Parts: sequence; structure tokens; C-alpha cells
Amino acid sequence: MSGTVNVGLVGTGGMGGRHAANLNDSVAAANVAAIMDVDAARAEAVAARCGGAAVYSDAEALIAAPEVDAVLIAAPDRFHAALARSCVEAGKPVLCEKPLATNVADATLVVEAEVAGGRRLVQVGFMRQYDPAHVAAKEVSDSGEQGKALIFRSVHNNPEKYGIRPLVDVVTNSIIHDIHSARWMMGEEVARVNTAYIPSSSDHPESARFVMVQLHYRSGALGTLECNSEAGYGYEVMVSITGETGVVQTSPLQSPVVRRSNARRQWVEADWLQRFQIAYLNEAQAWVQSIVDGQATGPSAWDGYVSILVADASIESGLKGMPVDVEVPDRPTIYG
Ligand SMILES: NC(=O)c1ccc[n+]([C@@H]2O[C@H](COP(=O)([O-])OP(=O)(O)OC[C@H]3O[C@@H](n4cnc5c(N)ncnc54)[C@H](O)[C@@H]3O)[C@@H](O)[C@H]2O)c1
Repeated sequence: MSGTVNVGLVGTGGMGGRHAANLNDSVAAANVAAIMDVDAARAEAVAARCGGAAVYSDAEALIAAPEVDAVLIAAPDRFHAALARSCVEAGKPVLCEKPLATNVADATLVVEAEVAGGRRLVQVGFMRQYDPAHVAAKEVSDSGEQGKALIFRSVHNNPEKYGIRPLVDVVTNSIIHDIHSARWMMGEEVARVNTAYIPSSSDHPESARFVMVQLHYRSGALGTLECNSEAGYGYEVMVSITGETGVVQTSPLQSPVVRRSNARRQWVEADWLQRFQIAYLNEAQAWVQSIVDGQATGPSAWDGYVSILVADASIESGLKGMPVDVEVPDRPTIYG
């Protein structure tokens, strides 16, 4: 399409607010045209911040609105799949925050709707794919200079004490990012998972403070995903890939190292909005450009679906205390 892409935004909390600001301030081809949030005051405030976008009280009406060319979904996880399907059925490109769905059945329906339409419209908000440090590490591994990739590792430390979070929430909301990185950066599918976790307290055995997922890839490569849901000191994400002749690893912190007063200090990012601010910006720019070009790019609905497939197996493995196989079906042709 030519000219300006008029975006409708559903959900204007921490993430939606950041997307609105990025699109409004830093993506020349985008216009934030419509906003919807169940918190009307929040929607009004974000609309005013974006130069007076129209405010809707119904997400489906926003998706159907003729003045909306494309939709960004940043409502809570449980609403993603149904809203993404509505966008696909309306023929509108959509950037859907992760996860694509909270269960495999709902993710399947989004993929089926897209396949029935015969073209990609969905991009899933796995923004690490736009983070310069992740991209650089993948380039080193893909170049072959450290031989065949044998082991993938990721460490994901969340900043604050969220309170009691069930294993299912930690996996589908947080570890889903690491699952996507594990597939995207290694360029292959996971065949088996084995999950162990430490509950937040003995009164709540279903809760998960610390989760470790061991991955077995189809090629025989291995991986580990560690997530500390209550790290309590800040936010850190680190990935590494061990090859036959070397290791590539992202630096967990972006800040400079300062030596002073007999101490060596480095500040830790407060949260994902700070750590991944460039990634969110790059993601928004790439998404809008893909709409202008008429060709969806980036993490697809298929990536969202397979990530949930691996997430579901990881939860089952943790609850049963045994390894679980992951059966990934053949990829439909629209996903390349
Ligand atoms: N990609 C990332 O790094 C990243 C980071 C944080 C959050 N997220 C995802 O973004 C989404 C939003 O997270 P957040 O941190 O902004 O949460 P939040 O709680 O700060 O904001 C959610 C917003 O959605 C609104 N809302 C609730 N129900 C709604 C509905 N039915 N329709 C429309 N709006 C509704 C709430 O009023 C609130 O304003 C989640 O799905 C989360 O997983 C992604």
C-alpha cells in the first residue's frame, strides 16, 4: 500500500503505551488512528498523546473500522487469539503481542484462518528478533565460523516479585520469548522438552519461582532455558550458542562498566521496556514497512503456534516430572 498506514491499537497499558509512542514519534509512515482499551480514561490519555486518535469502546468495531488499515494488539494474553483471528478475517495486517494464544487450540484457529485466506497477515511480538545483540549473535552462529551449533542457552531474570505465578503463566507469558529465541536462533525445531521448577512457596506447589527447561533439538543439539520469575534485583536476558569451535554470547547488560572508589559497578536494566527499547522501535518500523511493501515479515503466526506447542509440552513435562515429546506438524506453504 502507498502513503500512511493508519493503525488501530487495542490495549494501552505498559506495552501498548510504548507501541503507541514509538509509532507516533518514530515511524514516519504510521499514524495512530484509533485506540481501544477497557479502561476508557487510559485510552483517552494515549489518544491525546497521539494527536487525537479516535477512541473506541469495542475492539471488534475498531478492527472493522474502514479508517483502520492495520491493528496492533497489546491487550492481556487471553484476548490475543480471538482478536488476531478477527483481524485476519477482516483482511488486515496485525502485530499481535506475544503469546499468539494461551493454548494450542486457539493458536491453531489463527493459523487455520490465515492459511484459508492464503497470505500472511500476522506478525507476533517476539521483539528479540529485532534486538541488535540477538541479531549479531545469530549472525555469528549462522556464519559457520564456530562450526555446527551444539548447545543453546538462555537466562531470563524478571525484575520484581510478581507474587505467586502458576507454572502455566511463567511459561506461556515469560518463557515463550526464550522458546522463540531457541527456535529462531538455532534455526531448527525442538523435539523433546524436560522441565523442572521450584515453587514460590511450599503452600503453592503449582506456582513457579524458578523454571528450567531442557531442550532436545531434532538434530541432537541440546538447550537450556532458565527463567527466574522473581529475581528481585532487575531485568536480564542472556543467550549463548556453543558451536564445535567457539561460543557466541550476548552481554546480559548494555550499560558501561564503571570503576570507582575501589568498586566495579554496572547498572542493571529495570525492565524489558528499558532493555529492549531499540528492539521495540525496530520491530514497529519493520512491521509498518512490511505493510507498505505488502509482504508480511518477522515472527509469523506459525512461529506463535509452534512456540505454544513447545510451551504446552514444557508445562506438561514440569507437572508430570518427565520428558515430553513435541510433534511439530509440517509447515503450511504460506510460511515459506
Ligand atoms: N513483547 C514484550 O516484550 C512484552 C512485554 C510486556 C508485555 N507484553 C505483552 O503485552 C500485552 C500487554 O501487557 P502489558 O504489560 O502492557 O499489560 P498492562 O496490564 O500494563 O496493560 C494491559 C492493558 O490492556 C487493557 N485491557 C484489559 N482487557 C482488555 C480488553 N479486553 N480489550 C482491550 N484492552 C484491554 C488494560 O486496561 C490495560 O490498559 C500482554 O499480552 C503481554 O504479554 C509483551
